[in-house]
Amino acid sequence: MLSNLTAQPQDKILALMGAYRADPRLDKIDLGVGVYKDATGTTPIMRAIKSAEQLLWQVQETKSYVGLAGDPAFSAAMYDLVLDGAVSADRLSAVATPGGTGAVRQALELIKIASPKTTVWLSNPTWPNHPSIVKYLGMTLAEYRYFDAENGAVDFDGMLADIKAIPPGDVVLLHGCCHNPTGANLTSEQEDQIIAALATSGAIPFVDIAYQGFGDGLDEDARFTRKIASQLPECLIAASCSKNFGIYRERTGILMAISPSASLQAVTQDNMAFLNRQNFSFPPDHGARLVTMILGDDSLRSTWATELEQTRLGMLGLRQHLSDELRQRTHSDRFDFLATHRGMFSRLGVSAEAVETIRTDFGIYMIGDSRINIAGLNAQTVPILANALAQITK
Ligand code: LMR
Repeated sequence: MLSNLTAQPQDKILALMGAYRADPRLDKIDLGVGVYKDATGTTPIMRAIKSAEQLLWQVQETKSYVGLAGDPAFSAAMYDLVLDGAVSADRLSAVATPGGTGAVRQALELIKIASPKTTVWLSNPTWPNHPSIVKYLGMTLAEYRYFDAENGAVDFDGMLADIKAIPPGDVVLLHGCCHNPTGANLTSEQEDQIIAALATSGAIPFVDIAYQGFGDGLDEDARFTRKIASQLPECLIAASCSKNFGIYRERTGILMAISPSASLQAVTQDNMAFLNRQNFSFPPDHGARLVTMILGDDSLRSTWATELEQTRLGMLGLRQHLSDELRQRTHSDRFDFLATHRGMFSRLGVSAEAVETIRTDFGIYMIGDSRINIAGLNAQTVPILANALAQITK
């Protein structure tokens, strides 16, 4: 049986991680996988997480199962963090999942149960694992325009036209904030137009929000998700705690579903718990418990929010620094968009050959589509990247 297996296509983000690790150069720079790094290149455990872990070690008396949907207190805390009461809680179904990816996977499976023939519309471009999972599940996939590579900005006219034309009942996967891979985001007015188009077309929004707090702030980054939940009859939301709590390996995420009416909540919740049971049974608890403890305690919450804000401002500073360096070195405004983009990523808009040359000649690793992880930079490496880009794009 196992002899029937053939190699799977490589995930380009994970493949780059391997290539970076194998490179013996000491001055190599990793701008690949979306993991936050501080100025010393480490991915710190946040202070609030350390404190919560210490406390948990003291008070936790059992590791027995919690429940198929996870701890209801985690769902309540995440409902507050992401939705802040934007929609009445009696329409909310929620299950804890192994990370944001687990939530995406469960959402797609829920869609498949409810509406097996539906088409899932993805932004072009999007996180490569989105189309990969959709295809793996044998679902139909389509793309809406999103990015104007020429200007490093959202192709809003293209996006709006495509969303308006989506048939009722099809699912549209939207990035809640900090678009991955481009870093280009909608303005609040543009969000309103997209929501109006969805309301007219009857397409169903599915929001993937993995970077809340990394863009403009915790509430600002949840704005689009909250408007969607409050203004449209139904939606799905996959939220991740990997990045904003720095608990990548704990696999902490949640799938939330907003039903059109409270009477549909129980059957939705039941299907989501069923899916957890089929795929992995009980969801991981450790990370979810830490998140619940932090969000439910004023002091821990404020420690966490302060550190997250420092992280966010640090990335904004690096964006401005890189944009300034590139302006000086290229004598052009070509890369000014870097300062207006938000989140961990920006797509530079240079060719695959340029990406390759920057990797071989300068030891700087970015994804082949020229996506960089801003947090992989620091004050010393910004000029090194700017110099490489200026030389390559001369
Ligand atoms: C990324 O886009 O780099 C992150 O979301 C990490 C991943 O799993 O791909």
